[in-house]
Amino acid sequence: MIRKNKKIKVGILGATGMVGQRLIALLKNHPWFEVVAVAASRKSKGKKLGSLTVYSVEDDIEIIAQKCTLVFSAIEAPKDFIQKIEEAYAKKGLPVVSSNSAHRWTPDVPMIMPEINPEHLDIIPVQQKNRGWTGFIVTKPNCSIQSYVPLIHAWKKFNPKKVIVSTYQAISGAGKTFETWPEMVDNVIPFISGEEEKSEKEPSKIFGDIRNGRFVLKNTPQISANCIRVPVSDGHLATINIQFRKKVSKEKLIKSLKNFKNPLDVLDLPSAPKPFLTYFEEPDRPQTKLDRDLHAGMGISVGRIREDSVLGWKCVALSHNTIRGAAGGSILNAELLVKKGYIKK
Ligand SMILES: NC(=O)c1ccc[n+]([C@@H]2O[C@H](COP(=O)([O-])OP(=O)(O)OC[C@H]3O[C@@H](n4cnc5c(N)ncnc54)[C@H](OP(=O)(O)O)[C@@H]3O)[C@@H](O)[C@H]2O)c1
Repeated sequence: MIRKNKKIKVGILGATGMVGQRLIALLKNHPWFEVVAVAASRKSKGKKLGSLTVYSVEDDIEIIAQKCTLVFSAIEAPKDFIQKIEEAYAKKGLPVVSSNSAHRWTPDVPMIMPEINPEHLDIIPVQQKNRGWTGFIVTKPNCSIQSYVPLIHAWKKFNPKKVIVSTYQAISGAGKTFETWPEMVDNVIPFISGEEEKSEKEPSKIFGDIRNGRFVLKNTPQISANCIRVPVSDGHLATINIQFRKKVSKEKLIKSLKNFKNPLDVLDLPSAPKPFLTYFEEPDRPQTKLDRDLHAGMGISVGRIREDSVLGWKCVALSHNTIRGAAGGSILNAELLVKKGYIKK
């Protein structure tokens, strides 16, 4: 338990954006963290966000580094720009907890989903040594994979071989609302730039191992993804068809979800959902609007496990894209970093 005057002072890069706003809302009454600095592009500098004045992410690094113990990064900008910005803050000695994709494939940067690969934080001292930094960068995976990667992980004892996933993704995933993106009303767009590649590739790093100070990818199961933009505000639903090498039954699949051994259960992190995975018996669940806020938007919902004539098994899963898939997922990463001693209280 951290006393109010002992809260860890945090900054938010990209505070005016969709994810930045979620970070501010979720951190408002956080027991461990207190937002003391907000920053965005130069054009937003000087604006007010509540009681805080917006800094420039680029020009005010010095001030932000003095005020904060860590920064959350949620900037929408070209990859090399985001990489340079995140590196500049880490060089200043700050832990950078990122929702961006820019550094996900940097060899010494971990991509963490805390319930699945918390041990990948072990790469941090290697990263610091490689770069000569006292700070570091930690990323989280793309919002599109949050619903099905936990299932594949929970079912790994059945040896998953092939997965076909189709995602039905909310417009907030593009940083948009129906007001800012009226073309999405009564419409479906069958293309999200770069999303299918991320959805197929990122699990290989999450399921991978660290050997001799570098990540070794795990390329099984083989994953094929279709990512579709649908007219909902928040929540990414996915259908999953999956082939296992081992023989399974519906009962065993459900039991594995219900009995999932969650490494966070012993850590008592404020944003960790309990339980992580929820199975719905009803044939019409999970539904995006009804179930996306499960456990404050941090829970993963699963339903409709049934036999599939092509790959063997299929089901439906859901996660909240701007909470579990972005702001909440990053806050959970920061909580894990505190608990594991990487961020000083
Ligand atoms: N939305 C999701 O569901 C989701 C999920 C997972 C990951 N992400 C990732 O999170 C990041 C933010 O996404 P978003 O949806 O919140 O985007 P967004 O709503 O478009 O917000 C972008 C933020 O980046 C800032 N920004 C833009 N250009 C900048 C620059 N040159 N220098 C400094 N700041 C700049 C903007 O500031 P101004 O207001 O001043 O322009 C704004 O605060 C992206 O990398 C995205 O891929 C999003």
